[in-house]
Amino acid sequence: MTPNSRPPKFTVPMLAERHRNKIPMSMVTAYDATFASIVDEAGVDMILVGDSVGTVMQGNKTTLGVSLEHMEYHVQMVAAVKPRALIVGDLPFGSYQASTEDAVRSAIRLIKAGAEIVKLEGGVHVADRIAALAHADIPVMGHIGLTPQSYHRMGGNKIQGRSSGDSAGTKERLLEDAHAVDASGASALVIEGVPQTLAKEITEKVSCPTIGIGAGVHCSGQVLVMHDLLGLSARTFSFARAYAQMRTTAVDAVRQYVHEVNTGAWPDDEHSFD
Ligand code: KIV
Repeated sequence: MTPNSRPPKFTVPMLAERHRNKIPMSMVTAYDATFASIVDEAGVDMILVGDSVGTVMQGNKTTLGVSLEHMEYHVQMVAAVKPRALIVGDLPFGSYQASTEDAVRSAIRLIKAGAEIVKLEGGVHVADRIAALAHADIPVMGHIGLTPQSYHRMGGNKIQGRSSGDSAGTKERLLEDAHAVDASGASALVIEGVPQTLAKEITEKVSCPTIGIGAGVHCSGQVLVMHDLLGLSARTFSFARAYAQMRTTAVDAVRQYVHEVNTGAWPDDEHSFD
């Protein structure tokens, strides 16, 4: 793509505009400059510097160990490529749960690192954090449903919203959560791991755009973790599609290199100096 044909920078007000015009939005995670430039060149609307960095990059079972310092570091790397896509910085576990003041201070650090909107998990219980951030002029993306930072409460990363009742994660509670996030001033809402009928109902009821993952086609946009989309992970998920098999390609390439080193075929004359 030539610089002249590059679409305009995707900004926070464009979330509402695209939603109004019913144009779907795409979001993909990236955690460093190389992959941020790849997904940006491919025309994604939003780059989520997600705390999924804890599982896909750091190799941990959950996202709970990710620190604010880790997130600042990864946001800085993504921001360095000055993407056309909107940079979404994920607030990690522990950076906003204790108080609204923590939420505002943590969000300011991600904005200073280069995030253009911050994301945080939860519904009714974080509504005051979202309002405080909006009051501080920091755009917010909510995240409800299967919220990986609630790993222990959920008993693992389990689909939410299938049952009814009063406890956390029921259909009724998720509708309340969605309403609370929307009413507190969030600019968008991620819905993860819920039945598509519920995601559709939430999307119809809230005023902000919804971004789904494992939530069906009726959301205003979709998000995937880059490693799943590119087939980089050894694991697969029923809600994610691998649009390429990059792990196989990478293993084959490195295997070929190892073979050529072992047989003396690398380096050849063309790649050697006289
Ligand atoms: O951290 C992340 O990648 C996320 C997405 C799964 C929405 O929160």
